[in-house]
Parts: sequence; C-alpha cells; structure tokens
Amino acid sequence: MLFDFEALPKKDRYKLVVSTIVPRPIAWMVTQDAEGRTNAAPFSFFNVFSNDPVVVGIGVGARGMGGEERSDMKDTMDNIRALGEFTVCMVSEELAEAMNVTGAEYPTGVDEIAMAGLTTAPCAKVRTPRIAESPVALECKLWQAIPIGTHNLVLGEVVAVHVQDECMLDVNRLYVDTPKLNLVGRLHGGGWYARTTDRFDMPRVTPEQVEARRKG
Ligand SMILES: Cc1cc2nc3c(=O)[nH]c(=O)nc-3n(C[C@H](O)[C@H](O)[C@H](O)COP(=O)(O)O)c2cc1C
Repeated sequence: MLFDFEALPKKDRYKLVVSTIVPRPIAWMVTQDAEGRTNAAPFSFFNVFSNDPVVVGIGVGARGMGGEERSDMKDTMDNIRALGEFTVCMVSEELAEAMNVTGAEYPTGVDEIAMAGLTTAPCAKVRTPRIAESPVALECKLWQAIPIGTHNLVLGEVVAVHVQDECMLDVNRLYVDTPKLNLVGRLHGGGWYARTTDRFDMPRVTPEQVEARRKG
C-alpha cells in the first residue's frame, strides 16, 4: 500500500508514522518554569543525533492528542524556552506506569513527578533536577529549537550523564550494564510498549568479509 502524505490529513499521517517508526526510545523530560516549578512529561519523538558535541533531539508538539493538536505550546516547550535547559531521564520497565501518569495533560503548574509518586535529585550542571528513580539522566542545555509546523525540534547538548551505580559494570572502562537498565520503548497504537529484553548480537562486518562470504 502506498500512502501519499501530501494528500492525507495530519491525523492519518500521525497514525501511520507512530505505527511504523518503532520502537522509539522515550525522553522523559524534566523542565522548570521561571518560578522554579518542576514539570515532567514523556516524549517518544526522541533520539541522539551527534556525539561531538553530544546532541539529542526531541519533537515537542502543541497541546492536544496525536493529530488533533491545538496551537498553544506544551509546558515542556514554554519552560525550555524560558530557562534554556532540561533533563532527559530514561524509562525502565519498573517506571513505565509512573511515566504514563506524567504523560496526562495536566493544567500548567501541576507537579507531575509528585503526581506519579516519584522524587527528584539535583543535577550537577543545570538547575533543573532529574527524576531520582530513573536509571539514566542526561543533563541538557538547549542547543537550538527548530520550529516544524506545530512541533518544535528541541536539540539539547548533553553536558553530563548520571548512570545508577548498580548499572555500571566497570567504571574505569565506562562499561554500562545496558540490559540491567531494563529500558522500554514506545510502539504503535494507544498503549503499546516494547521491552529491551529480546536482544541479539551481530558484530559489524568489513567489506572484505562480505565479499569473502559472497564468494562462498
Ligand atoms: C509514551 C509517551 C510518548 C509521548 N511522546 C510525545 C512526543 O513525542 N511529542 C509530544 O509532543 N507529546 C508526546 N507525548 C504526550 C506528552 O507527554 C503530553 O502531551 C504531556 O502532557 C505534555 O506535558 P507538558 O504540557 O507538561 O509539557 C507522549 C506521551 C506518552 C505517554
């Protein structure tokens, strides 16, 4: 089936995109407003795009669900514009339900972290705190916010990373026990998620190895 995105309404494009670009890692973004009130919300239009500097990107939409967006910004975006910084916390399976609670569209000023029964811990290089229970937290300074329709592509430079002590295999060699992080990703539809427990190992190959295999 071919779907012409130039002819489809945005609600339908959204449906097709979130059902096919999977799994998506989840950026659990913590921000603060100018009065220092903390806000948290999950975003699955998220990934890392550069490693020198390390820059992550998050697609923050307008208020409203899916394709039915309004024109006013989410609190996360207002806060990022106000303070120029944010924290991205990764979501483990143990924290999935709490993450979901923070994704409900509460009125401005509601502390979603407290609503979800979570706590905060201070960051080292940004004023915004992180979610203490999260196994990995990225301290980010706003690099650039690029408007894309009703979305904003928020690019953040990662200036520090917290990894829970028990999830480090070897601190000196920077070996993280990635399976132990037990992170989840977003899938299709209303409420589907993926675990990262179904893994396989496939070493990289060189052109010479590929050629040798082709020749048998
Ligand atoms: C798993 C999950 C992923 C989400 N991903 C996005 C996303 O990529 N972009 C977006 O704008 N909203 C996304 N949302 C919705 C926001 O989290 C939701 O609108 C939230 O209330 C925004 O909060 P805020 O107004 O405090 O910023 C997602 C929600 C969930 C539960």
